[in-house]
Amino acid sequence: MEKLFIFDTTLRDGEQVPGCQLNTIEKIQVAKALEALGVDVIEAGFPISSPGDFNSVVEISKAVTWPTICALTRGVQKDIEVAAEALKFAKRKRIHTGLGTSEFHIKYKFNSTQDEILERAIAATKYAKKYVEDVEFYCEDAGRTDKVYLARVVEAVIKAGATVVNIPDTTGYCLPWEYGNKIKYLFENVKGIQNAIISTHCHNDLGMATANTMAGVMNGARQVEVTINGIGERAGNTSLEEIAMILKCHKGLEIETQLNTQKIYPISRLVSSLMNMPVQPNKAIVGRNAFAHSSGIHQDGVLKNRESYEIMDPKDVGIDENSIVLTARSGRAALKHRLSVLGVEVENGKLDSIYEEFLRLADRKKDINDDDVLVLAGMERSEQKRIKIDYLQVTSGVGVKAVASLGLIIAGEKFEAAASGNGPVDAAIKALKQIIKRNMTLQEFTIQAISRGSDDVGKVHMQVEHQGGIYYGFGANTDIIAASVEAYIDAINKFVK
Ligand code: KIV
Ligand code: ZN
Repeated sequence: MEKLFIFDTTLRDGEQVPGCQLNTIEKIQVAKALEALGVDVIEAGFPISSPGDFNSVVEISKAVTWPTICALTRGVQKDIEVAAEALKFAKRKRIHTGLGTSEFHIKYKFNSTQDEILERAIAATKYAKKYVEDVEFYCEDAGRTDKVYLARVVEAVIKAGATVVNIPDTTGYCLPWEYGNKIKYLFENVKGIQNAIISTHCHNDLGMATANTMAGVMNGARQVEVTINGIGERAGNTSLEEIAMILKCHKGLEIETQLNTQKIYPISRLVSSLMNMPVQPNKAIVGRNAFAHSSGIHQDGVLKNRESYEIMDPKDVGIDENSIVLTARSGRAALKHRLSVLGVEVENGKLDSIYEEFLRLADRKKDINDDDVLVLAGMERSEQKRIKIDYLQVTSGVGVKAVASLGLIIAGEKFEAAASGNGPVDAAIKALKQIIKRNMTLQEFTIQAISRGSDDVGKVHMQVEHQGGIYYGFGANTDIIAASVEAYIDAINKFVK
């Protein structure tokens, strides 16, 4: 078996998705869960991009022990210096530097030439090497880079000391055999290629990120850059869970990772919940329907022998239907254990307040599942928010006009308003806008399907536009109107300071 290194970029490429930004505490939670999952490298951020990103790289470096902590830079000295500073507490550290190598990048982004970019690539690698031993170089837009020039760059940066060379399909353009052939060409034409690890970094614009990554691996790449749930800019990056389970299911490939796949489902839920990013129900491995057989023929087959229709045991990815339900009779210890399985460590003081919320929810809902538990932990986080709901009363129905009265607490002061609308959400939002008189428009409003019975918690995602910016809000409540108002307020809390 050959080892494949897992480079997780959920906290860098994944976090670049608008609305998915995490604070440092949340990033540490994800980083610790990634460590428990067994990833080899955590790309913790792009330190020069903001003080928040810098600080997150510092704190993640302190918080985790085993994985290498990696910081992204452009191929410029200042970026590299700042990344080195952010990594100073990391036990194992890597600088990920690079430049665009395709004609599009060289001509239009840099207004430069191939020779000049080659020199800059060498200089950036050597400069990073002054600060850390482990330097990864990325050839941005390698997917559309001429293979002969790409080979020149790869050879030069390896000679300059790069330990890993990343071949990103930045735009998600490549076909699997095209991407595989690109990697093969490098192995056949780059002198010294055995001195570095070749890495894949695929985007999913044409839905081929996983296929392209596997094509790279089959042609010699031994590091894959992936994200939890495949999150990432536009259509996302390669999903960690898909690569992990492909290799687990296809032992004949003789390539393995050191991932503990039973941690996949909990970390998927954690990332989805912290980033307020729902996982599509039919998402491979971690989607709600990934193991749900609805047709009679399938159900019959699975009952007789699971392997008739299932290639994986749900337990191998950490889905254990028996262990994910808590009820009003569950104690603090059970709740704490469940939170910890989901990657959320809470101190006793915080546990008490989450437990109180848990009991309140358990009064309204019979079974509390993982999503509910994560939402409860999230409520604890939102306690410190400036605007909170005091009360909400709504009358609606067939043949009556919807009317809402709403009380808010803003920075400790109470405000009230009432309004009517064409439905209960409209009435409630109109009341909200009477109190918060800002120029803001609701751009997108998604109510996540309630799947586990009429007493389930409804989840609402909203995008609110304010002064040219888009702010994302999330609300979760057994009352869907309350969840909508919570989501609106969550978005407002992001621009009202
Ligand atoms: O997609 C890409 O090219 C990247 C690089 C910055 C590594 O994310
Ligand atoms: Zn990328």
